[in-house]
Amino acid sequence: MMTQEENELLTRTGRGTPGGELLRRYWQPVALSEELPAGAAPLSVKILGEDLVLFRDDKGRAGLLGIHCSHRGTDLSYGRVEDGGLRCLYHGWLYDVEGRCLQQPGEPGGGEHRDAIRHLAYPCRETGGVIFTYMGPGTPPLLPNYEFLSAPPERFYVNKIFHECNHLQANEGNIDPVHLSFLHRFLEKREERYRGVRGAEESHYNLVARNIAPIMDVELTDFGVRIYTVRQLENDKAYLRVSYFILPNLSAFPGQTGGEGYSVNWHVPIDDDHHWKYTFVYSAGAPLDKKMVERERSELMPDYRLVRNQDNRFIQDRESMKSKTYAGMGSGFQAHDAFATASQGAIQDRTEEHLVSSDKAIVAARKLLEKAIRDVQEGREPPHVIREPSQNRVSHLLVISDMIPNTGDWKEYTRKLEAEARAKL
Ligand code: FES
Ligand SMILES: [Fe+2]
Repeated sequence: MMTQEENELLTRTGRGTPGGELLRRYWQPVALSEELPAGAAPLSVKILGEDLVLFRDDKGRAGLLGIHCSHRGTDLSYGRVEDGGLRCLYHGWLYDVEGRCLQQPGEPGGGEHRDAIRHLAYPCRETGGVIFTYMGPGTPPLLPNYEFLSAPPERFYVNKIFHECNHLQANEGNIDPVHLSFLHRFLEKREERYRGVRGAEESHYNLVARNIAPIMDVELTDFGVRIYTVRQLENDKAYLRVSYFILPNLSAFPGQTGGEGYSVNWHVPIDDDHHWKYTFVYSAGAPLDKKMVERERSELMPDYRLVRNQDNRFIQDRESMKSKTYAGMGSGFQAHDAFATASQGAIQDRTEEHLVSSDKAIVAARKLLEKAIRDVQEGREPPHVIREPSQNRVSHLLVISDMIPNTGDWKEYTRKLEAEARAKL
């Protein structure tokens, strides 16, 4: 349970709020590249409570500007993309991606004082099918060199999903391994879909249903929290999953690719009550299953909202709850997670919760976030802000979904795999 003050600290994201200032120390996804193809109309976007316009100039560079023109405030997302920038429709002021005012054509001499104008502009970088921005002070840090952002297209998938709640509670769902055994449970045996758990004959679905009260352990890393979840099974075997909370607003966990890659959910606030969940699926081995990609896309409408959503009560079907799925909301996990987290309320009232032992990763992540917020408040750089190219490796982000001997040494098992991964670098 938290106090109201602690809850506010962790969930408010606007400029000047402690939580918002923390989020602004890291690069954040602002759009999918597919939303802004060459020649596309500028996009009106809201991120961390700020109204902005994202556009691609005639050289192909992405720019993110304050949406209201510096002259008299007209909405720049209606503007003309031309002459190396974005031109306001009202009086033709032209801005480049860095917020310089290049022209004030209605003024004598094209505006002698136009250089004095510095329009709000945030730097953008594009990689892995995503446009990222840095909204913080000073020189932007390096974008962490996550493996999943540089994977070839056949081993990588990215999309985004509209969520009607605060970013933190949705991210807490990613680091809550017990809900897999309930919310996402299938009531019939399933062998398809996942390429499986390494070393197992059975699918992940069946394994998480066979032991619904796993052992959990957490450890701090330099970028977040490592979470061990061990489901002891018969036959001296255990199903080990290793997942992560990553500062400040993402998680990595075994997903569609079983033990040969991982999924990442990156929860970017639109405002305090809504966010975009950017979902990445990365395969370290074989190309991604095209059917899986199609299935994921079919859960979404063209505006990236879920077909199953709050307005239609997630199309819950009580008949299917008898024999098919635990939740009666189809087989797609995205709708299950959207239901569970949005129904906690726009911002979960954490003064009313009752945490138990299986919430230990959530507790560890909150503590780390609080500490990182204090770091910023006291003028220190928070963890996982990377500035040294030689330090820009996240090789210890080792996600595991393996069947292992039930000998209780899962940490040792993990360290061995970690050492092997490092040796390959
Ligand atoms: S309000 Fe944009 S140019 Fe005048
Ligand atoms: Fe989930």
